[in-house]
Amino acid sequence: MVGRDPQHDILFEPVTIGPKVLRNRFYQVPHCTGFGGTKPWSQAHHRSIKAEGGWAAVCTEYAPISPDSDSQPFASARLWDDEDARGLSLMCEAAHEHGALAGIELHHAGAFAATGNHGCRRSRRRRSPTA
Ligand SMILES: Cc1cc2nc3c(=O)[nH]c(=O)nc-3n(C[C@H](O)[C@H](O)[C@H](O)COP(=O)(O)O)c2cc1C
Repeated sequence: MVGRDPQHDILFEPVTIGPKVLRNRFYQVPHCTGFGGTKPWSQAHHRSIKAEGGWAAVCTEYAPISPDSDSQPFASARLWDDEDARGLSLMCEAAHEHGALAGIELHHAGAFAATGNHGCRRSRRRRSPTA
């Protein structure tokens, strides 16, 4: 087996970002998995496998921060309320168990946000019976 090219050594060195230290330069960028916020255990396990494999940080996919930026039917992470935060905490704990940091891509689609009732729990609840 061929050894590592020394030009790549820097990738394996820790780096400090603000108050956090990443153990190496491998940051798993935000990408969707299909698990999103509806399957938090699968989300956590998927990211934890990467953390176990050595990634310094694992990140969620885009995570809408408010029901007025609901992206359903697409399966994204979500941070609307404490229930969503509890789901995401599973991923954080799994990443930390393997010495990785956990990241979230906070998201609001702004002018492109879906403002209708795209399967949104809260929108549905708020919809008047005559609407
Ligand atoms: C299936 C899939 C899902 C992705 N989901 C997100 C996402 O949720 N948020 C985001 O910022 N980028 C997302 N991306 C883009 C990736 O983070 C990444 O920027 C892209 O794959 C290019 O990677 P590269 O720069 O290593 O070539 C997604 C990409 C793929 C292929």
